[in-house]
Amino acid sequence: THVVGEACIGCKYTDCVAICPVECFHEGPNFLVIDPEVCIDCGVCVAECPVEAIFDEKDLPESQKEYVELNIRLTKEWPLITQSKEPLPEAESWAEKEGKREHLVE
Ligand code: F3S
Repeated sequence: THVVGEACIGCKYTDCVAICPVECFHEGPNFLVIDPEVCIDCGVCVAECPVEAIFDEKDLPESQKEYVELNIRLTKEWPLITQSKEPLPEAESWAEKEGKREHLVE
């Protein structure tokens, strides 16, 4: 499966949603996740994300392994998103930040 990682936090560009051929993205307040049971592993979203937040699970950096479980868990809690929308207002400044995990709003 593919996994949304830390770089998405605070940005939510949603270009990934527009390109996804299935409906696998779920939306929280400042982050998106991928439903691993729906994702067909096509990988088109990887190149589409302006902040390179999405990884094939096998390519996920060691420091972001926690995001596998986060995507599974939050998919069940958050609604489906099927159309792209405007990024979060502060997306550009959040795009530069590192260590955003503590800012993930559930
Ligand atoms: Fe997030 Fe990138 Fe999609 S910032 S909403 S994973 S395009």
